[in-house]
Amino acid sequence: NIVDKGNYKHFMEKEIHEQPEVIQHTLAHYVDFANGTVRFKGKLPFDFASLNRISLSACGTAYYAGVVAKYWFEKLARIPVDMDVASEFRYREMPMQENGLALFISQSGETADTLASLRYCKQEGQHIASIVNVPESTIARESDVIFPTLAGAEIGVASTKAFTCQLSVLLALAIMAGRARGTISAGEEQAYVKALSELPKFIRQALKADNTIADLAHELSKVKHVLYLGRGTNFPLAMEGALKLKEISYIHAEGYAAGELKHGPIALIDETMPVVVIAPDDSYYDKTVSNMQEVAARDGRIILITDESGAKKNALEDSTTIVMPTVPDVIAPIVFALPVQMLAYYTANFMGTDVDQPRNLAKSVTVE
Ligand code: G6P
Repeated sequence: NIVDKGNYKHFMEKEIHEQPEVIQHTLAHYVDFANGTVRFKGKLPFDFASLNRISLSACGTAYYAGVVAKYWFEKLARIPVDMDVASEFRYREMPMQENGLALFISQSGETADTLASLRYCKQEGQHIASIVNVPESTIARESDVIFPTLAGAEIGVASTKAFTCQLSVLLALAIMAGRARGTISAGEEQAYVKALSELPKFIRQALKADNTIADLAHELSKVKHVLYLGRGTNFPLAMEGALKLKEISYIHAEGYAAGELKHGPIALIDETMPVVVIAPDDSYYDKTVSNMQEVAARDGRIILITDESGAKKNALEDSTTIVMPTVPDVIAPIVFALPVQMLAYYTANFMGTDVDQPRNLAKSVTVE
């Protein structure tokens, strides 16, 4: 089972481009496209309808997938969700009640802190489920049920295709939970399934922004700090974008909720620190535009990742726009993950770092 880079320069580049196929493959496991419904092929050892809480924990990029999922489960299924990095969760002695679902997200299924959190939750009598890419892993073995991502082997240390597959599974589960709890109707389920069915197409379109993004790499490679901003489900994407950039280009980056700009990071803004704003033209767009104006007024340089209608509305002079297709709000964080990955990839590639094996990092962290 030897994986090679094919015509790509790095595994990371290859894995970015595999996303339309692996997402489609993963979704086929959870979605009956012909009937417009979500379903799980295995047997669920718990009932979404009677859950009183979901406790999510994970590390690194998988953690950010969980933060996006918190918004989805709360909105679509009205289940309260706790989300924590596993290294904190395992020690914080959280009181847990009956009928809670503990859900773990891990590409490798071997991350030590995530496994320790799983064992804590098991002791606390929770239902144990995991979203893993390696079905024979320890986390998978110790779970009551596994929700596989079918991303194939991921070689690049910085996770890309595993992340968007995790998001795809999490969204399918949130829809399933919403149906079981009666918080979304059959018609709404059909609309969500239609959005899911279009994901591979939208992601292919997103990949076409590669030239615009590669052109920015030259500029980004010269800066010391980058700030990423987003609201709603784009807030975790801002954190993921910052993580990717620092992991592979070694440029310091921070992801912030756009509304928190005034509570600190705005003090740092000047012409030397670009601000990447992730903002499709959704119900938050105007609020985020006002954050961009605050940045522009301080000579900050903006890189706006938006959709076609958001791009038409953007009147800021000193900004570069990366244009994504216009997509249903619910799947935007999956589509918008692509430009965020590509921005980090092309910057690191331009700088000549070891993209697939960045210094000091490991693909799987099996020690504390
Ligand atoms: C390491 C990897 C990341 C990954 C994280 C969690 O930090 O470099 O890419 O997101 O571990 O790994 P897991 O296998 O649990 O998803």
